[in-house]
Amino acid sequence: MTHRILILGGTTEARQLAGNLAARTDISITLSLAGRTENPVAQGVPVRVGGFGGVDGLAAYLRETRTDLLIDATHLYAAQISANAAEAAAHTGVPIIALRRAGWEPAEGDRWTLVDSVAGAVTALGSAPRCVFLALGRQEVAAFEAAPQHHYLIRSVDPVEPKLAVSNATYLLARGPFLEADERGLLESNRIDVVVSKNSGGEATYGKIAAARLLGIEVVMIRRPALPHVPSAETVEALAAVVDHFLEPAAERGV
Ligand SMILES: NC(=O)c1ccc[n+]([C@@H]2O[C@H](COP(=O)([O-])OP(=O)(O)OC[C@H]3O[C@@H](n4cnc5c(N)ncnc54)[C@H](OP(=O)(O)O)[C@@H]3O)[C@@H](O)[C@H]2O)c1
Repeated sequence: MTHRILILGGTTEARQLAGNLAARTDISITLSLAGRTENPVAQGVPVRVGGFGGVDGLAAYLRETRTDLLIDATHLYAAQISANAAEAAAHTGVPIIALRRAGWEPAEGDRWTLVDSVAGAVTALGSAPRCVFLALGRQEVAAFEAAPQHHYLIRSVDPVEPKLAVSNATYLLARGPFLEADERGLLESNRIDVVVSKNSGGEATYGKIAAARLLGIEVVMIRRPALPHVPSAETVEALAAVVDHFLEPAAERGV
């Protein structure tokens, strides 16, 4: 019997997980993307693109496609889709498991200022002009127009359009992973004195955090949002290893 799995993606790990599970002949995978990135990298498995239409839309999709397991492998800051996934799973009785990698912890020498939101990060920069490295999604950087006194270095996967209404902004297009040595060079050559980052966890984007520590640069770290309480695994390998448990009939899972 073939089990149908829907992976909510948009992250490197979701793609890796899909690749990992696609090797199994008893599983049929669909990877779901929101459609935000203009040219997403090839995913290697069947993909559907675009929102479902809230909790009800996702629940209907799960029923129509007879999905046996829902895997939430979206970005940790994509709180809406994660909340919708937990609710749709509860409504339909489809088991759910989330991939949630551990966050970064401050280490000796780190100068982190913790804030709860992008707006909080804008405020935390203060009123005196600074050279700020924004390594955030292109949807989020617009908030920094509220502090036009700073010079911004803005790195994103897709171009930021429209450009920010500030007089000093440099735009950089790049897709991770980013090496610490390269990040150090970037911070130094642009005379960056503060980095704004999400606490994404993982290796691929940690280079800027390690480089900031080395250079004694402040990091304004946006805390993770509250996420629904569902079973979760921290790594692709750990999640792939427990998939069978979640594909068992509910009675055997003890739910
Ligand atoms: N937020 C970040 O920092 C970040 C960083 C890297 C990648 N991403 C990826 O970018 C996507 C959008 O992030 P976001 O923060 O805008 O999400 P969000 O605020 O949690 O979700 C907003 C809406 O986008 C749709 N959506 C989100 N992820 C989807 C998916 N994988 N498949 C189908 N529909 C999806 C849903 O629309 P409906 O209600 O219509 O279903 C959802 O209600 C996610 O897939 C996430 O993994 C986000």
